[in-house]
Amino acid sequence: MNLFPDIHEALALLKAGEVVAIPTETVYGLAGDARNPLAIRRIYATKGRPAGHPVIVHLAMESNWEEWGVFSDKAHALAKAFWPGPLTLILPRQAGVLDEITGGRESVGLRVPDHPLTQTLLRDLGSGLAAPSANRFGRISPTTAEHIQQEFEGLVPILDGGPALVGIESTIVDLTHEQPALLRPGFIDKESIESIVGPLGHSSTPAPGTLKSHYAPMTSLLLSHTPEEDRLRLEKEGRSVAILKAKKTDQYARDLYAELRRMDALGVDILIAEPAPNIGLGHAINDRLSRAASKFSID
Ligand code: TXA
Ligand code: MG
Repeated sequence: MNLFPDIHEALALLKAGEVVAIPTETVYGLAGDARNPLAIRRIYATKGRPAGHPVIVHLAMESNWEEWGVFSDKAHALAKAFWPGPLTLILPRQAGVLDEITGGRESVGLRVPDHPLTQTLLRDLGSGLAAPSANRFGRISPTTAEHIQQEFEGLVPILDGGPALVGIESTIVDLTHEQPALLRPGFIDKESIESIVGPLGHSSTPAPGTLKSHYAPMTSLLLSHTPEEDRLRLEKEGRSVAILKAKKTDQYARDLYAELRRMDALGVDILIAEPAPNIGLGHAINDRLSRAASKFSID
């Protein structure tokens, strides 16, 4: 197998029902043809993901999106404002969408990713690409081709599109109820969504990716607003520590997963991460950090 297919080879693999890691602006996805049930099952098997977790369908800007989901006026308005981009819409599904994609739900998650290679791939495939993040279940999402190579030990072909520019997963908005709801914070913040569709409510649908322990490094992670003080305290107790300092939020988001991976490999006893200011994109960063820190929860 060629570990780094070019776009033509990647397209041929996807048409043959194989799984290929694809670049997006958020994180890399583990993709398969969304019309091929065997390809979707291969994604689940590769990722080690429990059945019943729905996957997002990625679409080309030119696709007929309405073949996949039912778009209300609010859905149209959000798509118009943010696609291509880091926003996933949960919509009532169209009849032809596979149960393997929706986990048997009546809804489907749709997104038009903002990456030129993947847009070309989608257009030439003439179908959607089902793709969860290209990491093993519960682990840190990959933002470079190298992360995927490490994660799957060279067993998954990768369409290398360079480092992901956003760095954390898309914002997810549920539009299956009267009032739209935020299921997962992301690069596009709540206020930007609300400026288009009005106040967001709380969803009754749990987003499965919101398992408390998610995006987790192996090393224990402590969140602290006073990282240096905590370092001194822990080092006095004889424990080795590495610190992730907060920085400008878009840079923090972009670097977050690569930094957590790098720090995880240092072999220290404890990682300390400093939360971002809790506004705008900072919410999404802190959401991921707190999930990464809760490895002792039952999920
Ligand atoms: O940025 C992203 O969204 C990345 C890139 C690859 O596009 N994808 C991603 O996929 O993060 P994944 O599978 O790791 O997370 C998608 C989340 C999961 O929590 C999934 O349960 C939820 O979206 N989801 C997908 N379809 C859904 C549906 N019909 N109803 C509720 N939640 C859904
Ligand atoms: Mg994921």
